[in-house]
Amino acid sequence: MDLGLAGKAAIVTGASRGIGRAIAAGLAHEGVDVLAVARSEAPLRALAEEVGRAGNRRLVPAIADLREAEGVARAVAAAEREFGRLDILVNNAGTTKRGDVFALAEADWQEGFALKFFGYVRLTRAAWPLLRHSRGSVVNIIGIGGRTPGAEFAIGGSVNAGLLAFTKTMAEIGIKDGVRVNAINPGAIETDRLKPRLERYAAEKRIPLETARQLLPQEMGVSRFGRAEEIADAVAFLISPRADYIQGALIDIDGGATRTL
Ligand SMILES: NC(=O)c1ccc[n+]([C@@H]2O[C@H](COP(=O)([O-])OP(=O)(O)OC[C@H]3O[C@@H](n4cnc5c(N)ncnc54)[C@H](OP(=O)(O)O)[C@@H]3O)[C@@H](O)[C@H]2O)c1
Repeated sequence: MDLGLAGKAAIVTGASRGIGRAIAAGLAHEGVDVLAVARSEAPLRALAEEVGRAGNRRLVPAIADLREAEGVARAVAAAEREFGRLDILVNNAGTTKRGDVFALAEADWQEGFALKFFGYVRLTRAAWPLLRHSRGSVVNIIGIGGRTPGAEFAIGGSVNAGLLAFTKTMAEIGIKDGVRVNAINPGAIETDRLKPRLERYAAEKRIPLETARQLLPQEMGVSRFGRAEEIADAVAFLISPRADYIQGALIDIDGGATRTL
């Protein structure tokens, strides 16, 4: 299916690994120029070379710490300088610490909100004039813990719930400004961040890692872990003209883990 994305320009945050990397590579494959943002230079350079070898569009590494307002401003300026336009913003860079509410330090809460909540809000606000000009699109990668919070995921659940509300807010503004804004809530996607959880589970149950990979999803009520590419495919569709009437949607891609409406 031709998604009609060729020649467009995107910012993808958290593109050095995991879901963000898959999204950046997927968009480049669809003919999109991508500003790939993260703090680590080496994996971004490796991705740029990979995209270059595949003969797709340009993927430009941008080193920035998105907890800082200055990093956000630098990323938007780099996209404007490199591509002269911006059609797509994918907010994805986020990490929030799991654990007992009383054991988590205030610094953990500050850190979680600084990157994921304020990072998404700042970048959306900073990129909005360019997106309005191109009648572009935003996708926020959030997470199922926003709709279904849990005691072990207090920070992530709170950040995610805030971002679901922010997505709806910007979608309303986007109706008049011509910018589409949607969100994807991934379930358990097998990226680096899942490894410690898997290792802990295997150690607790005294089972091999491979067995844990089969059993943990079952315990979570799904048949398997998701793949980063499955999120990337959904992003490519959501930002395409084929999804032109999808506005303010909060889409769970979680293998059916979310049982609520
Ligand atoms: N994997 C899942 O199961 C799952 C489930 C639900 C929601 N999500 C959400 O999906 C998104 C991606 O998850 P993931 O599993 O792919 O995460 P990941 O593998 O931990 O990757 C996180 C990305 O964010 C970047 N990053 C971290 N701190 C940053 C900072 N201060 N400034 C700029 N970039 C920063 C990292 O690069 P550097 O370290 O190089 O900066 C990396 O590229 C996150 O928002 C996460 O909450 C994931």
